[in-house]
This record gives sequence, structure tokens and C-alpha cells, in this order.
Amino acid sequence: MKKLYLICMIFGLLHAGNNYSTRSDWLLDINTTNGKFMAIQKQFRGFDLAMVEVGYRFNTFYYSIKDKNYDLALYNWDKIKKAMENGIIRRPKRALDAKSMFLNSQYNVMRKALQKHDAKAVAEAYEETKILCNACHISQKVPFIEVIDPEYRWQPIR
Ligand code: HEC
Repeated sequence: MKKLYLICMIFGLLHAGNNYSTRSDWLLDINTTNGKFMAIQKQFRGFDLAMVEVGYRFNTFYYSIKDKNYDLALYNWDKIKKAMENGIIRRPKRALDAKSMFLNSQYNVMRKALQKHDAKAVAEAYEETKILCNACHISQKVPFIEVIDPEYRWQPIR
């Protein structure tokens, strides 16, 4: 305990003369236009954040199917598409697989099943979707990212 206190003291002293900046104008502080755009571009990130959104929405999507709330399922399905479309604008190298395995294929199959409120077709399309998500992960060299059935709800909605 005494040792920990000493370590904290030393750190405190080390930082004593260092005025921590609480400035938040990280973007305005960059003085070239190109530099500003570069900084914004970096903050938007790449395909990873698109997929974080896809995964997040996939959770609500899964439970809305279970609850037979097809309007909520459709809402999330369309947002999944939007996230992926934005993702391929940021990372065009992912576009070919994204289009062939999802945007121009499975997206439409599921959408039709949901619009018809056809529980059997939705269940089938759901199983296919998981297979296609994972097929793309294999093709895109991230086979260690396996899409599975969610185990609990992330959102306080149903
Ligand atoms: C273009 C093909 C492609 C499709 C289709 C695809 N993914 Fe991905 N996914 C990727 C790639 C590539 C990564 C790794 C992204 C990176 O690191 O830049 C990824 C990563 C992920 C991640 C991890 C994100 C993180 O960083 O934590 C999740 C979650 C995910 N995908 C869910 C899904 C789900 C669910 C589906 C199906 C609805 C799906 N993906 C369909 C290509 C795809």
C-alpha cells in the first residue's frame, strides 16, 4: 500500500509542470483544409465500424424475428444494408463480396420474406444469412469472426 502511494506521488510530481490540455478543438486546430479532411476521414474509420453497427443491429434483428415484430426486423434489416453500403464507400475493396453475398442477394430474399410476414421463409432466410455473413468473413480473410445466434438482448426494445 505504502509503495503504491509512493508511485502515485512520483507520477504526480512528474506531471506537475505539465499543463494538461482540455482543449477540444482537435479539428479546428489543424490548419490546412486537407489536414482537416484527413482527420475527419480517419475518425469515420473503415469497414470495422460498419460491421460493429451491423453486429449491433443484427442482435435486435434476431430478437424482433423471434417476437414476430416484422416491422422492427425490417427497420433493422434496412439499417444493416445502409451500414454496409456506407462501409463499401469507405473501403471499396470490400464491395465485390458485399454486393454478391449480401446487398444484391440475401438482402432482397430476407426483405421479401419479412414483408410477407412469412415466419417459415423468414426462418429459412435467417439461417442462410448467418451462412453468408460467415462466408464473406472467410472470403475477406477474417474467418475468426463467426456470426452466431445472439445469446441475450442488447436493446431495451422489442
Ligand atoms: C464484405 C463481406 C462481409 C459481409 C457480407 C459481412 N461481413 Fe462482417 N465483416 C467483414 C469484414 C471484412 C470484417 C472485418 C472488418 C475490419 O476489421 O475492417 C467484418 C467484421 C464483422 C464483425 C466484427 C466487428 C468488430 O470489429 O467488432 C461483426 C460483428 C460482423 N462482421 C458481423 C456481420 C454480420 C452479422 C453479417 C451478416 C449480416 C456480416 N458481418 C456480413 C465482412 C463482411
